[in-house]
Parts: sequence; structure tokens; C-alpha cells
Amino acid sequence: MKFASEQMPAGTAAAPGPDCLQVRDLTAGYGGPPVISGISLGIEKGQVAVVAGPNGAGKSTLVKSIVGHLPCVSGSVTAGGVDITNHPAEKIARGGVGYVPQNDDVFTTLTVLENLEIGGYLLRKREVARRIDEVLEVFPDLARMRTRPVSRLSGGERKMVAIGRVLMLRPAVLILDEPTAGLAVQLTTELFERYIPALAGNGAGVLLVEQKATEALQAADWGYILVSGQVHVSEPASTILSRPDLGEVFLGGSTSLADHGSDGDADDDEEPPP
Ligand SMILES: Nc1ncnc2c1ncn2[C@@H]1O[C@H](COP(=O)(O)OP(=O)(O)O)[C@@H](O)[C@H]1O
Ligand SMILES: [Mg+2]
Repeated sequence: MKFASEQMPAGTAAAPGPDCLQVRDLTAGYGGPPVISGISLGIEKGQVAVVAGPNGAGKSTLVKSIVGHLPCVSGSVTAGGVDITNHPAEKIARGGVGYVPQNDDVFTTLTVLENLEIGGYLLRKREVARRIDEVLEVFPDLARMRTRPVSRLSGGERKMVAIGRVLMLRPAVLILDEPTAGLAVQLTTELFERYIPALAGNGAGVLLVEQKATEALQAADWGYILVSGQVHVSEPASTILSRPDLGEVFLGGSTSLADHGSDGDADDDEEPPP
């Protein structure tokens, strides 16, 4: 998966930029006081970055402002070296940034195939058929339900359709907002251990917003912890996993870093006295 520059038809291979996705000093909100401020982060080609943090921290606000669903008040977003700050969402998608929102990510009255076709609406007809085959290779379970209306699929199957729809444009950057919310344990594990690494293995940069932080970080290269709209921690995923001080409060859930020995008192940043 390569980045498609603005001059080229969607999904056409182009030289990747120096970075996959770069967010610098980003501030955004909903008209009142900013919800996120001064956020900087980056994703390398072929890598997985996780954005974790408590409910209401601003994770969805961050990704919405990256993909053009919400205006950026200040700061910048570049993808493949191209400035996409405040570009229309469709142009950002066409430029190689795929976005799977947390909700409302499929057309339930349409079939699996029709949803995938919509994902490929910018492509030529013959190309659409080829890309559908590619997506069905990634999610073989969808192949046997291709003519089924999505309303008759399970939550996990719907999520595969949602991701598959975005993969139709072979995004260079794939942003997933809490893809495992409501998924069965087995599919969650499969997503983290099989599908996400496979997408990164194809060269895409993956930005994964997750509440199930520990499991997500185990599949990631880098982790960002967002607290109250700011980046509280930016470190290699393995380093975060080895920090018991980050505990439940920042990472949330019963499968948090408490398993690594935290007492859960994540507000206590103090070092023990020498
Ligand atoms: N559409 C909206 N209008 C106004 N405020 C919003 C809207 N969506 C979210 N917020 C507020 O922005 C903050 C961050 O929300 P969100 O980005 O959804 O957090 P997260 O995804 O980390 O749970 C919350 O305080 C939330 O109430
Ligand atoms: Mg959210």
C-alpha cells in the first residue's frame, strides 16, 4: 500500500513521503474551549501506533480532526509529506488516509459486496472487482456472505465490512477508532494479532485508537496516551507495557497494566526518594 499523491487517481502507487502521517501541535474542538490541544504524533510506514487514554480524553476528536470531519483550530496534519490540514474529508480519503469510525461505519440495508463497491467508488469498474477480491482475501469469512445484507451480519462481521470498505482504496494510512468495541473476545484477538499486523506488513501505517490498551499495545510499535486532550505519554509500546505506573487509570479496563503489578494509582508520578 503506497501513498497516492493529490495528482494521481485514488489508490495509484506513488513514492511514499518521508513519513506516513505527521500531526504537529494540533488543537481542535467543537466551537467552545478546545477539546484537544498541542497534540503531536507520527506514524511510520509499516508501523502500528496506538492512541489510548480514558473515556472523554479526546481520542475520537483527534482522529476526526485528522481525517477532515472536524476543523483544526491550529497546528498541521501531513500525510506522505503532503499537507492535508483542514482539507475536505473526501479529498483526504482519496489522498490515502483511510478512516474507520467507531459507529455508523457500514450501510446496513446494503449487501457486503455493495458496501465494498461504495468503498471503491473512486475507482474504475474493473479495478473495483480486483480490489474486492483483495479485500475478501484479507477477510475470507466475508466471501461466503458477499450477497447478504449487512443487517444480517454479526457485530464482528460488520466491522470486517467496515474495514474492508476502507481498504478498497488501499490506504497508505489506516485510522481505526476503537474497532474492537462490542466485538467478541476471539475476533478482538484476531484483529490485534492477525489483521492489524498484516495491514502494517503490507506497508500501511496504522493508527489504532483503543480502550483495550494492553492488548493493542502488544500489537503496536509506538503508544500515545492521551489525557484531557493532551499527549501524556509518547513512548515505544514495549516501554509503556513495562511501566506499571501507567496502570488502570490511564489505560482503562480489567486487562490493563494492573496485570503488570500496578496498584492502580496512576496519578502518582512521583519517584521514590533516593
Ligand atoms: N459532537 C460533540 N460536540 C461537543 N462536544 C463533544 C462532541 N463530541 C465529543 N465531545 C466532547 O469532547 C470530549 C472528548 O470526546 P471524545 O473525543 O469523544 O473522547 P474519547 O474518544 O477519548 O472518548 C468530551 O468531553 C466530549 O463530551
Ligand atoms: Mg472515542
